[in-house]
Amino acid sequence: MWLNEGMEKPKIFVTHVFLGKFVERLKEKYEVVVWPRRDISREELLIGVKGSTGIISLLTEKIDEEVMGSAGTQLKVISNYAVGFDNIDVPAATKRGVCVTNTPGVLTESVAEEVLTLTLSLFRRIVEGDRLIRSGKYKGWEPDLLLGTGIKDKIMGIVGLGRIGRWTARMASALGMKVIYFNRHRDEEFEEEYDVTYHTFDQLLEKSDVVSLSVPLTNETRHMIGEKELKLMKPTALLINTARGPIVDQSCLIMALKEKWIAGAGLDVFEDEMCIPVELRSLSNTILTPHTASATIEARMAMARIVVDNIDDAIENKQPSCLVNPDVWQQKID
Ligand code: GLV
Ligand code: GLV
Repeated sequence: MWLNEGMEKPKIFVTHVFLGKFVERLKEKYEVVVWPRRDISREELLIGVKGSTGIISLLTEKIDEEVMGSAGTQLKVISNYAVGFDNIDVPAATKRGVCVTNTPGVLTESVAEEVLTLTLSLFRRIVEGDRLIRSGKYKGWEPDLLLGTGIKDKIMGIVGLGRIGRWTARMASALGMKVIYFNRHRDEEFEEEYDVTYHTFDQLLEKSDVVSLSVPLTNETRHMIGEKELKLMKPTALLINTARGPIVDQSCLIMALKEKWIAGAGLDVFEDEMCIPVELRSLSNTILTPHTASATIEARMAMARIVVDNIDDAIENKQPSCLVNPDVWQQKID
């Protein structure tokens, strides 16, 4: 039953055409159905997954009880093309004995590079300078034109010391920044090795010149940056969010940026990516990027490889290396 023995090949439903070329190698063993267009609607998703043993999903697709139910009881694995998996109802999957997998490790450097890129670009006012020239208003060198801030000795405050937080810490200190962090658990070895110091969340907000978020979106982290937190930050500080939009209360952030409670923000993610408020788009002290922190060729290729390995392993009854709900495996063994 596990391998669908004696029946046709197990079906794998792939929700996005981009991934089509990466899943070629699954075609020998599986009936691979790739959604041929860019955006799959909820209705199309519910129909597409029917009869699937595996689903390859994107972070923009809500994979909940209804989708799993529509797939059917033969569903074994949901392989998400992302490190974050807040789009998937993991407890519901575990209850159904369905493996959920993600793509950690391979986009760490790419996302941390984006954090530093946003930081440097904001401090050095790169986007404002570019806009000035393009507007035709630049009239030549001036001693105080677009004065920025140097990053040497500035404090990088990292919220969440996972893989991305750690690599950000290493890059920031290589650039001459002092690094502090807040995390649920302290890592004294890392502190010592990279000269990084632990602070409480409030202390970190008060001291940092840059606050960078690298926590997953959970009930605990939703709106963890709101009015109180933004008011604790220095008026010269920057907020960088390359994690998930809802970690920040976006309307409070807009107010903070307008009223200069903080100096600026670099945002790769938004509360609703399909609808980014004009108010946010019209602020000059922000850089907005379209959820491209992991968009390097290196990272996206490696993510595709892992997505394919995860799905194949789970269907072949091998524990996938990037299983986010190991309980499900334990249940299978017990
Ligand atoms: C991107 O946001 C990811 O979670 O991989
Ligand atoms: C994600 O890969 C993280 O651990 O930060």
